[in-house]
Amino acid sequence: MRVSSVAALLLPVWLLLATAVDLASAVRPNDFKKCGDSSFCRRIRRLSTYAEMHGPKFSSPYSINALPSFDQSKPSLKAQVSSALYPGVDFELEVRFHNDGTARVRMDQVGKRHGDWKRYDEAEKWGIDKQPELFKQEHFSYKSDTSRSTVNFGPEGINTFILEHNPIKATFLREGLPQIVLNGRGLLHMEHFRPKPDPFPSPKSESDGDAPSLVFQNKKRSLQEAGHAASAADAWAGFEEEDRGEWEETFAGRQDSKPKGPEALSLDIEFPGKANIFGLPEHASPLNLRSTRGQKDGDFHEPYRLMNTDVFEYDADSPMSLYGSVPVVHAVQPGSAASVLWLSGSETWIDVDRVPGPSGNETARTHFFSESGILDLFVFLEPTPDKNMALFSTLVGKTPLPAYFALGYHQCRWNYLSTDDVLTVNGRFSDEDIPMDVIWLDIEYAKNHWYGVWNDETFPKPERMLEGLDAEGRKLVIIIDPHLARNDDYFLYKEARTKDVFVKMPDDKSDYEGWCWSGSASWLDGFHPDLQNWWNSLYSLASKKLKANARNMHFWLDMNEPAIFNGPEITAPKDVKHHGNWEHRDIHNIYSVTYHAASTLAAKLRESPNQRPFTLARGWWLGSWKHGAIWTGDNLGTWEHLAVCIPMMLANNIGGMSFCGCDVGGFFGNPSPEMLVRWYQAGIFEPFFRAHAHIDTKRREPYLLDEPLRSAVRDLIKLRYKMLPTWYTAFKEASSTGLPVLRPQYLVNPHDANGFAVDDQYYIGDSGLLVKPAVQKDATKVDIYLGEDRPFFNYFTHEIYRGSASGKRVSVPAPMTSQVPMLQRGGSIVTIRERVRRSAELGWRDPFTLYIALDSQAHGGVRAKGRLYLDDGQTYADEEGDYVWKEFEWREDSSASDGSATIVSKDVEGSSSAGTNVSASSRGNKDAFRKSITDVRVERVVVLGLDKPPRSIKTREGPVDFTWKKGSSASGKAGGKASVLVIKDPKVKIVEDWTIHFE
Ligand code: NOJ
Repeated sequence: MRVSSVAALLLPVWLLLATAVDLASAVRPNDFKKCGDSSFCRRIRRLSTYAEMHGPKFSSPYSINALPSFDQSKPSLKAQVSSALYPGVDFELEVRFHNDGTARVRMDQVGKRHGDWKRYDEAEKWGIDKQPELFKQEHFSYKSDTSRSTVNFGPEGINTFILEHNPIKATFLREGLPQIVLNGRGLLHMEHFRPKPDPFPSPKSESDGDAPSLVFQNKKRSLQEAGHAASAADAWAGFEEEDRGEWEETFAGRQDSKPKGPEALSLDIEFPGKANIFGLPEHASPLNLRSTRGQKDGDFHEPYRLMNTDVFEYDADSPMSLYGSVPVVHAVQPGSAASVLWLSGSETWIDVDRVPGPSGNETARTHFFSESGILDLFVFLEPTPDKNMALFSTLVGKTPLPAYFALGYHQCRWNYLSTDDVLTVNGRFSDEDIPMDVIWLDIEYAKNHWYGVWNDETFPKPERMLEGLDAEGRKLVIIIDPHLARNDDYFLYKEARTKDVFVKMPDDKSDYEGWCWSGSASWLDGFHPDLQNWWNSLYSLASKKLKANARNMHFWLDMNEPAIFNGPEITAPKDVKHHGNWEHRDIHNIYSVTYHAASTLAAKLRESPNQRPFTLARGWWLGSWKHGAIWTGDNLGTWEHLAVCIPMMLANNIGGMSFCGCDVGGFFGNPSPEMLVRWYQAGIFEPFFRAHAHIDTKRREPYLLDEPLRSAVRDLIKLRYKMLPTWYTAFKEASSTGLPVLRPQYLVNPHDANGFAVDDQYYIGDSGLLVKPAVQKDATKVDIYLGEDRPFFNYFTHEIYRGSASGKRVSVPAPMTSQVPMLQRGGSIVTIRERVRRSAELGWRDPFTLYIALDSQAHGGVRAKGRLYLDDGQTYADEEGDYVWKEFEWREDSSASDGSATIVSKDVEGSSSAGTNVSASSRGNKDAFRKSITDVRVERVVVLGLDKPPRSIKTREGPVDFTWKKGSSASGKAGGKASVLVIKDPKVKIVEDWTIHFE
């Protein structure tokens, strides 16, 4: 029995603590490791401290002693690497070069095996979506001599790779300028497999003092013989003197048996001349990554940690790990950018600091260290962050188009307690005229917390409940966690036992047993090849295993870090086993994806033809976005948590996870009405928009608010619904370009270094809409940063603000009711559906309004443009080309002084949908959706900032009526309210190509 009876007894205490939350208290620090609590983190971080101390005298013991070989056919470079620390242990380094200008660096120990073990080398199976094409041989050039090898690659060979042999150092250059340096500080280290010392040294006694051991002496001698300066040899040899933690480790009373011994890897990666680095989600911390060496005020003192954990009451400003992990960093400086993906699924820590760099800019330095696995990383060398983001997304997979309803409002709490409760909440939303798409059921729907088994006392007729929701176009989400109660009366547990698909104990013989909501439980092993088919049978509509399963039922995959109440750091012990003879240590962060992937595929396959599934998971890693949405876990109902949600979502977005959101209202606590309204003001701009609350909180559905706040929240949710076409279009673009749905300032305006620290506002896709929620108590206005020399229009008041290329802050009203800080960038056209219905899909044939915000002048004849994407929102017919993707442009001839202009609507040229290449005009008869909305109108066109009213406006059908409200022009310098021209009924259809002429 792994679960100690003590731990089992302690469980109720944990639950008690979890429910009686004191919001003033912070995370319980003793539950989670700091670097100093982790043996490998201590070892490797100590190495970098030694390196700092010894400055230039410290050098890497790793070198290449024989000329590398080049394989023209791949093309790649391979080199044997050895370490002066361990004569006789060899490593193989491989660098592959790709057509898109990216490169991949891998290193593994030669011989690889230690008994039955090898280093985990399958992260790419889960993390890489599409292997990049290898570089075309004819463009590949290289040369090598004893000291260095040089390779030119990438489009037109503008990228260069220089590998210095002794000590080993790798530099990636773009147009001759260094962008990424690996091992520049000599922190490369790969702990090789080794036999366990016998006898195993006992813990150091006090009397040992600091006397150097024999091992130390020998190692120092061999390093000196290999040419290392005395102090560097001291540093390395001393570093190797780390403790018994290489072979066993105990944290908070829980032991890690470490049968493989030490296996950590370490590499310093720096970005010369680029001080700003972004990425490494998920952390509750600023978007521009802080330095972690504690040298300056505001620095963190701990490295960023990537280790998916169920962090109870997490701090709102901390590098500690949370529920998700994506080991990618994007480095940026005006005119230059580079990114690195560190492909590891094991626990990883990253130190960040900055030092003086070339051209007066600082250089951001990172130091990555992971507990196990091979060294495997990708570099991206495009000069702008959006291009690197696109390459990254192509490599790891883009966000797919979600089902349309999933962008609506989700109403959740732990728990709606019965069928009646659900139907009453549903009815209240309808009666109160508040749109809503999904009601959620947390764990209490399930008898004994046996997921998939309805509590038939409280949910006697779940199918009737689903029908009731369906009648209003609404959906139900039920929770199915990856732990199954160990009870032979529970059908899923019994089936899983028969299939033998549970995570195993370290001896691989019996199923691992831990504690979670269901009491004693075992965990599904997402790495097991037999899991998927069986899991499909659970979700299948035909199998009826999930009694009441229906098309309008969807799935919440919580606790998939995995969260284990009595496990170390509330997760799985590192030495439990997964299929393939992998230790949990090797795949910890990947586990979250496996359960998300298996469940989403099962949901997709549950009927034919397949419908787009919706799943929400909490734990996530690279590529989780291909399977569904995530949220930021158990936040608090505090102003700090409301504020930190924004940089967290931005980091998630640039890490690849666009479809994310935070529990609106805060999971813990009872937010004041003011805070709740502010939370909705922010929530309507989160890609995944869900209110959720802990079981001990008071009910806080929006209809429970008093007036005028109830109406304020109603209007906010309605605004979200009006904007659904914009959100859906933003997702379409994300799914095709790989750029995120939420775009931070640095990504949109990479020329403007002043804006790099701005992480409390963002653009919604390419729409031109810029939002900055008010997240402070008693706020009446917010300052919005405008990093472009253009007009920006207040969406509600039509006030014009002017930005500047070097950034300018403007003050925008942020009242509690009637408006939120949202600006429309001059030069954009946004499509809105002004009519709002009970749920998203019900509005599928409703007409559209175009909001045209003019730029100060035309660029290439175009003064504003925008796109609208539509499809059936449910099926995969879009992949066959059955969609409508329109582009709108305001065109004017700048030489014509008569004010003539034309609005043009046309299909997006050469548009292709994910995975196919179907142009809008060649879709044959796969046109069912397009045909079904042929008569849907554009009911209004609103033009902001026109200089003067036109004499007439005409469409193909003749003149149309319009109204004109005098105001400021987009091209003028003054602010004030913009002129507003409204065409009430332009008599054009959304699917058609058309023009509207202004004379
Ligand atoms: C933890 C989740 O984070 C929370 O949202 C949920 O309500 C509880 N588990 C109960 O399922």
